[in-house]
Amino acid sequence: MEILRNLPLFPESASTFARDVDALYFFGLFIAAFFSLLIAVLVVVFAVKFKRRSENDYGIPEKTSLPLEITWSVIPLIIVLGLFFWGVKVFVILYRPPADAVEYFAVGKQWMWKFQHPEGNREINDLHVPVGVPIKLTMTSEDVIHSFFVPAFRVKADVLPARYTTVWFEATKPGKYHLFCAEFCGAEHSRMGGSVYVMEPHDYEAWLAGEEPGKSLLASGEELFTDLACHTCHTGDTGGRGPLLTNLTGSEALLADGRTQERDDLYLRESILDPAAKIVAGYQPLMPSFQGQINEEQLLALIRYVKQLNQTAPGEGVQTAAQSSAAAADEG
Ligand code: CUA
Repeated sequence: MEILRNLPLFPESASTFARDVDALYFFGLFIAAFFSLLIAVLVVVFAVKFKRRSENDYGIPEKTSLPLEITWSVIPLIIVLGLFFWGVKVFVILYRPPADAVEYFAVGKQWMWKFQHPEGNREINDLHVPVGVPIKLTMTSEDVIHSFFVPAFRVKADVLPARYTTVWFEATKPGKYHLFCAEFCGAEHSRMGGSVYVMEPHDYEAWLAGEEPGKSLLASGEELFTDLACHTCHTGDTGGRGPLLTNLTGSEALLADGRTQERDDLYLRESILDPAAKIVAGYQPLMPSFQGQINEEQLLALIRYVKQLNQTAPGEGVQTAAQSSAAAADEG
């Protein structure tokens, strides 16, 4: 196993779940190779052993054996069920970011990756992250379908326009790792890539401090909230023209047509761009669309800002990677 992983054919393993993904992959490969070889050898052996030996050789009548048939049905069934449940286990690890993961953002466009740190730093085609901190990347696209792929972390996920997809990873080794777009997205697709730089916590903080910090996501969101005049309808003293934006995280809205709707990122995005699509019960479709006035990065900022407004449960604020990496450094 270790030998296989060290073959130059395989990418480096640099995330906490790289081993789980590899183990499943190698097991599937082993099973496929074993049965392919077994069948190929048996085809040759039987062809030679049971070949027609004379003009009037008609063979012997077929014999059937129930135990034999049960055996060759049950053994593969056990193997594929094992592969299935093992696959589910790895899938759940890959698609459930830990609760303490720090949220970063990525926007794909023809042909670049734009990243934003919770601290406000922005990067294009490069992403700097601290080692040993779980990082959740919320991603969307400005144009066509892209795919975020870092082989060393064993993460890959499609990045779609008008959707939010997430991947998470916790890097285990400082270093520079390739980042690819893994979905054909036009003429420059093959060049749409970059590097993920994994750094020791103190190096990461030094890097952050040395960069132009930019505005944090929440600060950008707050500014947009005022600039786009969201506050004129969505705050307490406006006569209830629009729903109050309180405790949005994890709650549901009752819609005018009687359905309920989880107030997730996608619903908030839709409500900004196409407000009439899902009107909250008791309100009129008064809100104008902001389509064309706000780009994907601004949408992310506005949604993050709105989601933490008047949050009664504390701790919904944006945790930064610097705080997390400091904690990780403290733990040793
Ligand atoms: Cu973006 Cu390929």
